[in-house]
Amino acid sequence: MDKFIIRGGNPLTGTVRVSGAKNSALPLMAAAILTEEEIALENIPHVRDIATERRLLASMGAVVELHEPVAPEDGSSTAPLSHTTICCRSLSEPVARYEIVKTMRASSLVLGPLVARTGLARVAMPGGCAIGGRPIDLHLKGLEKMGASIVQQHGYIEARAPRLRGAHIVFDRITVTGTEDLLMAAALAEGESVLENCAREPEVADLAGLLTAMGARIEGAGTSTLRVHGVRSLHGARYCINPDRIEAGTFLMAGAITGGDLTVAGCNPDHLGAVIAKLREAGVRVDVVAADAVRVRGADKLAAADISTEEYPGFPTDMQAQYMALATQAEGVSLVRENIFENRFMHVQELVRMGASIKVDGNTATVRGPARLSSAAVMCSDLRASASLVLAALVADGETVLDRVYHMDRGYERFEEKLRGAGAQIQRMGDVFPPRFGPSGATHA
Ligand code: EPU
Repeated sequence: MDKFIIRGGNPLTGTVRVSGAKNSALPLMAAAILTEEEIALENIPHVRDIATERRLLASMGAVVELHEPVAPEDGSSTAPLSHTTICCRSLSEPVARYEIVKTMRASSLVLGPLVARTGLARVAMPGGCAIGGRPIDLHLKGLEKMGASIVQQHGYIEARAPRLRGAHIVFDRITVTGTEDLLMAAALAEGESVLENCAREPEVADLAGLLTAMGARIEGAGTSTLRVHGVRSLHGARYCINPDRIEAGTFLMAGAITGGDLTVAGCNPDHLGAVIAKLREAGVRVDVVAADAVRVRGADKLAAADISTEEYPGFPTDMQAQYMALATQAEGVSLVRENIFENRFMHVQELVRMGASIKVDGNTATVRGPARLSSAAVMCSDLRASASLVLAALVADGETVLDRVYHMDRGYERFEEKLRGAGAQIQRMGDVFPPRFGPSGATHA
């Protein structure tokens, strides 16, 4: 199992470029199910969850091809984007098998499109995961309202409908993939659907963008009410995925916690409002330096500031763990409230093992800082918890060994390479210990 070995102490400087958004790419790939024609997606990140989704689509009969970028003949330096084509002309097996679903809960995103396109979907029920129960009852309730009959047995959900009907659906609570699943279903349903209390995350708007390019008729993209006029069929399209706002936010935190001067390029600053506001409140200098770039400059002293995770445009739950690492370095008490998932504090014990002072009571963590963090052997428990531990390690004394980095690989593309490019001392290792760095911090071969 791979590990990261990180020596703290270097401020991050220079420029780091973000990849395409994993949480956009997953629903956009699932949307390819809705048409017989080819969908070409640019800017898909090379991360493990995407590989899993490729495998899932291929297991159903889709032809999925990754096209690596070809360098421009004129020698210009603009890096071309890779793209993935997906063709679901024949879906011989409309089944999402447990072996795949258990490794990635977002697999439930194929439910709506499969039943809309083929009239039948069999999807393994996702179990819980490190951050909470992850139910999909709201996806099912919505599909039933659209006329699907749903049976759950042997660990699978089977949904059937000769053709889905448009419906008026008010989500009991805001769900990102639930909104996406029903939006895809509504695109091919007969008649009009009105979806209320929808997630307003940029990833939902990204999906609406692709669906519209495929011929879907959607009003209200990016708002909490989506109105969809169902069409008989959708066609092929080419679409470029939004940059990953959580990766961008993670790098902003990395620049801030190390007291560096880092420009995060290739991002959309409009999607980072709550994160930028909180960094400023903590005393960090953050400037939007271009339409797609944000520069962060660390403060001599970080100030404590509370966060409370909310649906977009509030502070994202996917940035809570990284913010907590930053809060360990701030002067005073920061309260971190997690309102979206019931168990998303798995990083706390590992941060405490590194010397942080954090107490958890229910959904609130009280972080007292600044703490002098020291290196330790720590373990990743989920994707964002892993990022939090990397940030802590970047400012800890000595050399931290971070185990189970496959969690990190699920959602961050070449994370350690990008950090290294900005001056971090981080190495990926197989099962290798003891330390890889000499006293000067130089890496051993
Ligand atoms: N919920 C229900 N019933 C449902 C669906 C959701 O009760 O049918 C609850 C959940 O248990 C949770 C809340 O509603 O308490 C919100 O969950 P949501 O459905 O919005 O989460 P998700 O769609 O499963 C996506 C992201 C997560 C991100 C959340 C919240 C993808 C593939 N995943 O999950 O991303 O944390 O929205 O923003 O888009 C990550 O990237 O690390 C990650 C976990």
